Parts: sequence; C-alpha cells; structure tokens
Amino acid sequence: MYSYLWILLILSVSEGYKILVVFPVPAGSHRNLGDGYVRHLLKAGHEVTYITPFVMENFNPNLRQIHVADNFKAINAQLINIKALMSHQVEMDQDSLFQFSINITKTTLESEAVQKLLNDASEEFDVVIAEWMFNDIYCGFSAVFNCPYIWSFSYEPNFVSLGLLGEATNPAYTANIQLSDVPPFNFWQRTYALWFQVLSNLKQILFYENIEKEFYEKTFTPIVQRRGRNLPPYDELRYNASMVLGSSHVSLGQAIRLPQNYIPIAGYHIDDDTKPLPEDLQRIMENAEHGVIYFSLGSNLKSKDLPENIKNNLLTLFGELNQTVLWKIEQPLPNKPKNVHFLEWAPQHSILGHPNCILFITHGGLLSTTEAVHFGVPFIGIPVFFDQNFNVEQSVQRGIAKKVILTNNIDKDLRVAINEILNDSKYYERINETSFIYHHRPVPPGKELVHWVEHVVRSGGALLHRSPARLVPWYQKMFLDLIALIVVFVFVILQTIKFMSACILRPKVPYKKKIT
Ligand SMILES: *[C@@H]1O[C@H](CO)[C@@H](O)[C@H](O)[C@H]1NC(C)=O
Ligand SMILES: *[C@@H]1O[C@H](CO)[C@@H](O)[C@H](O)[C@H]1NC(C)=O
Ligand SMILES: *[C@@H]1O[C@H](CO)[C@@H](O)[C@H](O)[C@H]1NC(C)=O
Ligand SMILES: *[C@@H]1O[C@H](CO)[C@@H](O)[C@H](O)[C@H]1NC(C)=O
Ligand SMILES: *[C@@H]1O[C@H](CO)[C@@H](O)[C@H](O)[C@H]1NC(C)=O
Repeated sequence: MYSYLWILLILSVSEGYKILVVFPVPAGSHRNLGDGYVRHLLKAGHEVTYITPFVMENFNPNLRQIHVADNFKAINAQLINIKALMSHQVEMDQDSLFQFSINITKTTLESEAVQKLLNDASEEFDVVIAEWMFNDIYCGFSAVFNCPYIWSFSYEPNFVSLGLLGEATNPAYTANIQLSDVPPFNFWQRTYALWFQVLSNLKQILFYENIEKEFYEKTFTPIVQRRGRNLPPYDELRYNASMVLGSSHVSLGQAIRLPQNYIPIAGYHIDDDTKPLPEDLQRIMENAEHGVIYFSLGSNLKSKDLPENIKNNLLTLFGELNQTVLWKIEQPLPNKPKNVHFLEWAPQHSILGHPNCILFITHGGLLSTTEAVHFGVPFIGIPVFFDQNFNVEQSVQRGIAKKVILTNNIDKDLRVAINEILNDSKYYERINETSFIYHHRPVPPGKELVHWVEHVVRSGGALLHRSPARLVPWYQKMFLDLIALIVVFVFVILQTIKFMSACILRPKVPYKKKIT
C-alpha cells in the first residue's frame, strides 16, 4: 500500500519532459547560450538531449550529449581571423554567413550520431529547442518527433527573427543589427535601412530558400515517412515555431514592438552565483590599487591574430597606465610590463563581477555587452563584424561605452577613450542605471526560459500566442490588393465618364447637316 502511494507521489511530482536542445555552432559564445538552456532545464527536472560540438562537463543522469565535433572542420576558419577580416581578405556578409550556416547544418544533420537519433523510431521528444542561425532547416526536427519547436535567437530581434513569427519590423525606426546606424535615422539612413531589408529578403527568396528547401526535403522526407507520416511543406513548417526565445532585453537593445511569442531572456546564460576567481587572479585583482582594465576580444576572435605592430603598440600603451591590465591572449608577448597580465583563458563573469574591475575593452559581441551591463562595467567596443556594430553603437548612444575602430592606429584612439571613460563619472552613473533596468525584471531570465518551454509543451504548442499575421500574405499586409482594386475602380469610372461624355457631347450628325 505504501509503495503504491510512493509511486503515485513520484509520478505526480516528476513532470520532467523530454527536450531536444540543438546548438551545433562551433563557437564559444554559442556554446555558452546552449549550455545555459541545458543547465536551467536540468535544474527544473527535465530530461535533456543536447546536440553540441563541445563536451559539457555535467554528470546529471538526465543529460545525454550528442557530439558533432566535425562541425569545427565545416567552416572556413579565416572568417573569424581578425587579421583576415581587417585586410578584407574575407568579409562576414550575408553570403558568407549563409554558407557558414549551411555548412554547419549539413555537417550536423549528416553526422553519424544525429542520423542515429533521427532514424531511431523509439526516440521521442516533447519539444525541440534549436538555435536559429541564418537558415530554418532545423524546423524538420519537429516533423520527425511530431512535437512543437522553439527557436533560440542569439541576436537583437530584427526583421529576420520576427519574420519567422509573421511580424516585420519597420525599417523607418528599427536598426539593422549588421549596420552601425542607430535610430533616429536621417533621410539617407532610413532609405538605406529600407533598401537593406528589401535586398536581404530578395536574396532570401531568390537564392537561399531553394537551397534550404532542397536540403530539408532530402534529409527529412525518408525519416518522417518511415515514422508513417508525411513531411509538411518547408514553407509551412518553418513558420510553425511556437516561440522565439531571444537573447535580448530592452536594456541592451531597442524598444520595438514584439509579437506575443517572442520572449526576451537576455542574461539567462549567466550563473546566479559567480564562481570565485582562481587564487592568483584573485590576488592580482585585490592588489590593483588603481583598478583593473580587462581586455578580451571574446571566444571567437583571437588577440594573437592581431598584426604584430598593433600587439606591440597596445602592450606599450597598457604598460603606461596606472591600472592593472588583464589581457586575454592565446600566446604571451615578450617584454611584458609589470602591470599587464596575460590570460590564456579568462573567467569573464568572475573578472567583470569583481568590484575592482573598472573598464572592459571588448569586441562588442552580444554576450560581452550583456555581461558588461549585467555586472555594471562601462566598456570600450572595438566592433569587428555582424551585430557587434549595432551593439557598440547602441551602447555609445546610451552613454555606457565608447567606440574605437580597429585600425593600425588603434593604440592612440584607445588611449583617448580609456582616459575619457576613467576620467568621467557619467559613464559609471549611466551603466549603473542601465544595469538596474536590466536586473529589475519580474522574473529572472532563467526562470522565464523554463516557464515558456514548459508552457509550449503543456499547451500543445502555444497556438494562442501566435500572431495571425503568419497566415497573411505580404501583399495583403500592405493592402496591395485593395490598392489594385481602387486603381481598377477609378480607371473604370474614368473610362465610363469619358465614354458617356463622348456620347452626350458628340454633335448629332444628321441635325448638324440640317443646319448647314
Ligand atoms: C563551406 O564548406 C565549403 C566546402 O567544404 C568550404 O569550401 C567553404 O569555405 C565553407 N564556407 C564557409 C563560409 O565556412
Ligand atoms: C504546427 O504546430 C502545431 C503545434 O505544435 C502542430 O499541431 C501542427 O501540426 C504543426 N503544423 C505543421 C504543418 O507541422
Ligand atoms: C598615476 O598615478 C600617479 C601616482 O598616483 C599620479 O601622479 C598620476 O597622475 C597617475 N597618472 C594617470 C594618467 O592617471
Ligand atoms: C580629466 O578631466 C579633467 C577635467 O575635464 C581634465 O582637466 C584632466 O586633464 C583629465 N585627465 C585626464 C587624465 O584625461
Ligand atoms: C554604481 O553602483 C555601485 C553599486 O551599486 C556603487 O558602489 C557605485 O557608487 C555606483 N556608481 C555611480 C557612479 O553611481
């Protein structure tokens, strides 16, 4: 009798769902975002299967990892080489981002481990969470497992992410995250924003979409058929996401209107309790009488790839400062000044969280920007590609950062920027205000993440949260059919008037004849 009660109790308490988390991009920042989902979902008692190119050190029995390590080889490493980007040997434009994403998607879906998962008819999931990266092919997972899916979006919301939910942003007042124009726009910026949005959409429709569709059908048709169902058309399934969970927040980006199923959860990847610093680093930071400046170009761009003269000039600049400088660089440089410390690996959260950290010099990636605001440290942004331009420009406008452009003279510009921030309490007041807005939410972002994932499962796909705009074709959204009708109507009326007036005014020929 008792054991029976126990079983009932366990059944009613454990509401764990089976969740597939797909984060195959082989880059440290994307790994942090994926690990964040996994940590929160495991903590909430769910069973997680995690597709990742990395190895996550976590021994929770509810976690199964599926490694797609070949993804490291699938991409052109030059694309994130800072020297190649500086000299324009490579460009991080729409075409290379698409190629990059297709390469990763193909390698992921064709990998042995993922094929095994997809082809095993006993595998079932309650929901799929996939990171959106410049193509929509992972929506196919939801067809295979016959369950709802959620996109994780790693950028500020824009016309692409909101387009997946049927909404479009208005280019008159919404920044494109690849550009450094921040509203309010002047006439030319506004025109360029429209042109950029139209051109991107056209490229999507004319070139990319067919490649995606073909690969989607080739990969998923046989698998779904083997499970006794038909693969839904790509154009239907890709707009069938239940939610987008975005790494954004109004304190970091723009206050634009969002559909009900776009949920901003920036900062969920940061642990509530910051890990203590390693002992040597703790000592260095404690003893920094004039404070610490932390310099890191993030996990993808490498400081060691900077041109030699820039590295040497930066080292000279840092050596002349009163502050202690922590430089995340993969290869130590010779002639290190006493106040400079090289870190091959940097516990970024713990460094930024230390009260002596007074300035962060960063590439302005979304995670670094988020972390600067989270820990209340003003920063100098050196944007290199993609959304870094927007992140830095927006922060400059907010008064929490300065922007320095990556040129051969960067040390001179950086010196000016460092002096200006350290010497002006305004930056510290602003970052405090921004940090307050960032933290002052009804629920912490990690809790919100778990809530919405569970909501999607329990509500059978959050159908009520979806915008009716998803089902309205673009020409109807712009009322082009109405405009066409009005044009035709006016034309007909004009023609009728012309015809009738011609009839009435035309002199009656026989009568005329009589007069003359
Ligand atoms: C994609 O893969 C192809 C072939 O493997 C490679 O040549 C190309 O450089 C890759 N592109 C990117 C952007 O990673
Ligand atoms: C769209 O999602 C809902 C909820 O998950 C599901 O019931 C429906 O079958 C999906 N539609 C397609 C075309 O897969
Ligand atoms: C560095 O510290 C010294 C001694 O505290 C001070 O005299 C000097 O003005 C400081 N230099 C700068 C650039 O702040
Ligand atoms: C700091 O600002 C003050 C007043 O604006 C100026 O006199 C001083 O030279 C500045 N110091 C540095 C190190 O830039
Ligand atoms: C910012 O906030 C911190 C912690 O709340 C406080 O110690 C500091 O004085 C504040 N700085 C400014 C410039 O308001």
